[in-house]
Amino acid sequence: MSAFVVIGGQWGDEGKGRTVDLLAQEATIVVRYSAGNNAGHTIINHLGRFALHLVPAGIFYPEKLCLIGNGVVIDPEVLLEEIEQLESRGVSTKNLFVSDRCHVLMPYHRLLDELEEQARGDAALETTRRGVGPAFVDKVARLGIRMADLIEPDALRERLKLVLPQKNTLLERLYEAKPFDFDELYRAYVEFGCQLKPYVRDTAAIVIEALDRGEKVLLEGAQGSLLDLDAGTYPYVTSSTPSSLAAGAAIGTGIGPTQIERVVGVYKAYMTRVGAGPMPTELLGETGDILRGEGPEPEFGATTGRPRRCGWFDAVASRYSVRVNGVTSAVLSRLDVLDNFPSIQICTGYELDGQPVKSFPSATAVLERVTPIYEEHTGWRQSTSAARRFSDLPKEAQTYVERIEDLLGCRIEYVSVGPEREQMIIR
Ligand code: IMO
Ligand code: MG
Repeated sequence: MSAFVVIGGQWGDEGKGRTVDLLAQEATIVVRYSAGNNAGHTIINHLGRFALHLVPAGIFYPEKLCLIGNGVVIDPEVLLEEIEQLESRGVSTKNLFVSDRCHVLMPYHRLLDELEEQARGDAALETTRRGVGPAFVDKVARLGIRMADLIEPDALRERLKLVLPQKNTLLERLYEAKPFDFDELYRAYVEFGCQLKPYVRDTAAIVIEALDRGEKVLLEGAQGSLLDLDAGTYPYVTSSTPSSLAAGAAIGTGIGPTQIERVVGVYKAYMTRVGAGPMPTELLGETGDILRGEGPEPEFGATTGRPRRCGWFDAVASRYSVRVNGVTSAVLSRLDVLDNFPSIQICTGYELDGQPVKSFPSATAVLERVTPIYEEHTGWRQSTSAARRFSDLPKEAQTYVERIEDLLGCRIEYVSVGPEREQMIIR
């Protein structure tokens, strides 16, 4: 029995997808356990380049089971489209299953995400507008529709009869928006239910049986710890319950926490963030633009195409996420993006009004005001993309990785030097 988790240690887009694509080799099952199609996991392999939003990144191994756990919210239209696209490119989805406990993301969630963002005005969170936040609100408010309801027309009708009048009242009275027509919505979602029915299972039972047989199960996180509802930079966070933390993996999969034996945290060699919220090391000038454009996969959102905000590695925020996740080993991704910089900075501490800040601040207003304290490192100014062993890296790059390891307080087991499967150094 052993499950292991891959989580994002920063604000998302750390390279979880490609890490899962690699580590899936060790497992018989890969489970996505949280969030929805706000996530975008880019994977490049022998079949081409893929951006997955709901399907686990283990899908490229035909013999592995890929499960979408109960902690994920499913937009049926998006899932069906993703399945169709994968199939059309030669990737089989015959081993893909979805938990009957997953909540369904409905069109009114998408509309509400849009309207709520507009209503926030200058305080907008800059969500992905996929409806994920409102879908989790309904889950907590006990107004959700689950996959188990979606695939049973009678159950769906009963739930929708209860929920839709409330949503329509909200849309019409608060936002002066057009209400949804019951019959139209019902018919469309019965049809989605029919198409998805063959994929729906009690996925937790499948995982528990596999663990009982002694198999290894990989739990794939979405987003990053600093976007987590509890641990993140609230309110500039995502709404997933369970969280984007490793602790949420057990809940979002439907297993006990004692089954998890290893937590792999993925960290970029610098920082990025999409959407609003504090980011102490953000570089607003030319250096930020260079960081954004430098790599083979430039820093634009895989889900929304928005430019990602870029900055130097923030060891305060990253160490905090090592601790709140209980990270046991780390992946340092995209080291190659730093190849051409003559000098590279690492933020080793913060200062507020001239005083050192001891821990990662909870209050957004404080985090917005801190000044990063930097340590300067000499760049290596040569390509690392062909390195396959740690010793192949230039001395300065080795020093940079070792320094980050020291600051994180956990072993860096993998270093990526490019987006291809083989561009991952295993130490
Ligand atoms: P992956 O899994 C980066 C951000 C959004 C926004 C905030 C809330 O690819 O790392 P939401 O739509 O979730 O209500 O938006 O969270 N966000 C992400 N940023 N990577 C992600 O996922 C993200 N998922 C949500 O940009 O700031
Ligand atoms: Mg992403």
